Parts: sequence; C-alpha cells; structure tokens
Amino acid sequence: MDKRIITKAKNLTGELTVPSDKSISHRSAIFASIANGKSIVRNFLRAEDPLSTVNAMRSLGIEIEEVITQCSSEELQSSELIIHGKGLYGLKEPLDVINCGNSGTTIRLLSGVLAGNPFFSVLTGDDSLKQRPMARVINPLKEMGARISARSNDRYPPLAIKGGSLKAIDYMMPVSSAQVKSCLMLAALYADSKTTISEPFKSRDHTERMLKSMGADIEIENLTVRVNGQNPANLNLKPIDVTVPSDFSSAAFFIVAAILVPNSEILIKGVGINPTRTGLLHVLNSIIADVKLENERDISGEPVADIYCRSINKLGAIKIGKELMPSLIDEFPILCVLASQAEGISEIRGAEELRVKESDRIKAMVTELRKMGVEIEEYPDGVQIKGNAQLKGSEVESYGDHRIAMSISIAGLIASGDTTIRNPECVDISFPGFYEKLKMLKG
Ligand code: S3P
Repeated sequence: MDKRIITKAKNLTGELTVPSDKSISHRSAIFASIANGKSIVRNFLRAEDPLSTVNAMRSLGIEIEEVITQCSSEELQSSELIIHGKGLYGLKEPLDVINCGNSGTTIRLLSGVLAGNPFFSVLTGDDSLKQRPMARVINPLKEMGARISARSNDRYPPLAIKGGSLKAIDYMMPVSSAQVKSCLMLAALYADSKTTISEPFKSRDHTERMLKSMGADIEIENLTVRVNGQNPANLNLKPIDVTVPSDFSSAAFFIVAAILVPNSEILIKGVGINPTRTGLLHVLNSIIADVKLENERDISGEPVADIYCRSINKLGAIKIGKELMPSLIDEFPILCVLASQAEGISEIRGAEELRVKESDRIKAMVTELRKMGVEIEEYPDGVQIKGNAQLKGSEVESYGDHRIAMSISIAGLIASGDTTIRNPECVDISFPGFYEKLKMLKG
C-alpha cells in the first residue's frame, strides 16, 4: 500500500507493548558475533534495520539461528536469536558487498569491527544511507591506522575496508553520537593499547553496558570512555544472554499520542528507560504532562518500566537546547507534533544532526506540519513552533523515513478530516505493526 489514511481519534485507551529496542538489538547481534561461544538474545527486534545487521553478520561467517517467539496477527515483531560467536578474530572475509539497507547503526558500528579484521570488505546501503555522512567514522579510524576509503572523497557509502592492526588514539568527538562512539569502542578492542574517546554531551550508553557485561576492560568517567585493547579480557569477550526491552523511541509516539488525544489513558509495558534515552520524560515533566513510570526494574543490565500516560488539556511551551538533544535525538519529529499543541512559542534547537538522519528531519517536519496548518519556522539547527494549532488533515510525505511517518500519523489523530501518508510502509524499519497498534487503541 503506498498510501495510508489516518482519521481523527475520539480517544486512545488500553495496554500495549511496542517493539524491542533497535539500538540494543543491533548491538547484541554484532557483539555476540565477536564473543567466544553461544549467545542467546531474546526479544530481538524483527524489523528491517536489525535484520540488516543479522544478514551482515551471517555474511561474515557467523551462524545465527532464529526462533520466532511472538506472532501478532499482522507482523512478526520479535524473535530469539542463538548466535554462535567466533571471537574477536573469528569473522571471515565476505564473498560479496554487505548491504546495510537503511541502517546507519549497522554501517557505522560494523566499520569499527571490520577496521580491525585482516580482510577486505565493502559496506553499502539504500539510497538514503548512501547520502549519510561517514567521514565521522572514517577519519578517526584512519587515525587509528585503518585502511578505509569511501565514495566522494571518503565521505559517503560505499565504504571499502582492508582491515589490519590498529593503534590506540585519544579522540574528542566533535558531535555527540552513540554510533561513532560505539564504532571507535569496537575498533579499540583491536588496538595496541588504551584508546580514549570523549564526547561533548552524553549519548546513549548501550555499548558501554553490554561490552562491560561481556567482561570487556572499559573505564567510564563522565563523558570519556577508555578501552584497553591489550587486556586479554577484551580478546575473550564472554557470550551474552539478554532480553531486549521495548524501545523507548517507539513508545514515544504513543506517549505523545495519549497526551494529545482527549480522554486517553494508556499503559505501555516493559519499556527501556535508560537515562541516556529518556530526555522526552524530562521535557514532559517540565510541561506537567501526566506520565508515570510504574514497576521499575532491571532487565539484562538496562532499566525498564511500564509507562502510564493520559491526556492533558494544557501543555507548557517546550524549550530544548543542545545539552538535552542526544537523549532525545530520535524524538525530534514527535516533539514537533507535541509543540504544535503546547501553549505559546516552543523552540527546539541544537538539532543540526537531524539534517543527516534517514531524511533531513528538520526540513521534513517543517514542510509537512505547515501543510497541516502549523506555524513553524526553520532554523539551521532546529525549529520554532507556534502552539495551539488547529491541525487539518492533508496529504503528507514520509520521505521514506520511519520516524516521520509515525510522527505525522500521530498528528493525524488530532487533525480534522483525513490525513493521507504517502510511502507509509517505511515504519517497518523500526516498528512493524505500527498502524495496527494505533487502530487497536483508537476509540
Ligand atoms: C543510534 C544512535 C543515534 C540514533 C540512531 C541509533 C545507535 O544516532 O539517532 O537512531 O543505535 O547508536 P547518532 O549516533 O548518529 O546520533
């Protein structure tokens, strides 16, 4: 279906789960492949992006068995993976180009692993991924001595890597990015001594948590991570046995939906609430939205809770700057929708990175929300949005970007008339079954 129609909702009610965490799913497949022995990953996200990682690891010679554990009527959302890891140096040269699909996490994290492996590999992706900047990983990897080149003066995929011995570096990342940090931490496992990586603000720390649980020698001090490539623990990573929680970034669409659609009350179960991911909760607290965490617990080294939220009819304006941005980087599009319904003028700044995500998410939200009647101004690094907008249903474009499609769908729930989303199926990148979940909650 190349179009999807969303109509106004009277209310949203009920309990739901959202798909497993995409970032943790990617990491589990890559890290388990370079561990020594058999790992088990439960609730692995069966969406296009993490499946690109599984295919990549298989083409590098890793045996990955998949047991389907959950089956909703429309989509298979998660599975159990048994991954037969072969150790840091157990990967083999791929016979063909590795296609990372739409997934920035796959290409950037894998380039760190492949830089340390003594064989030739080529990484590419779909049209969107081929436009995404890779110099951010290529430059520091080259500093470590990696032989790596890429299209357009080493800036864009495809990437060609002839891996080999690496030397440790001290690296200050110009921009906070968990993908870059994780790429360099993985490369550092192969380096000749201690690598130091620092970032301006804290980005998600799933890599640090998972590698530590595997026995890796990692020191974390505020915004700096040190990985000692010479420590034997790093050469002998222990296999993992993890259960992936639900993805906070997928839950975010329903949290905002429940706040905005009148007479709504929902409970989202088993969601990861890692503090490096939950900047949206800070924002909601500051504008007094009714969101509560219940049944807080720890699952496989990650904090998890059920999230209760209900509608609220007065929301304060939103002000977000660069400090908070890494902890809500993927929530920018849905925050624009929230801001369109707040009181007064909201500003979301410090978001330059959004220009180079699966689409230019600043431009995409400005263009599409304007079509729906929102007064929104574009800055190089974000937006200014006039609140209390009366949204009107329109024909809107997803740009093939899953988070734009889902954000605009939520806007459609509070718009008059029909909202028609073009290219709606891109939600399968992270959230297969999204439209069905929405239908299930809708009054
Ligand atoms: C991710 C990190 C973030 C995020 C992306 C997933 C990860 O990207 O936007 O969806 O899994 O490490 P950046 O590292 O580019 O900020």
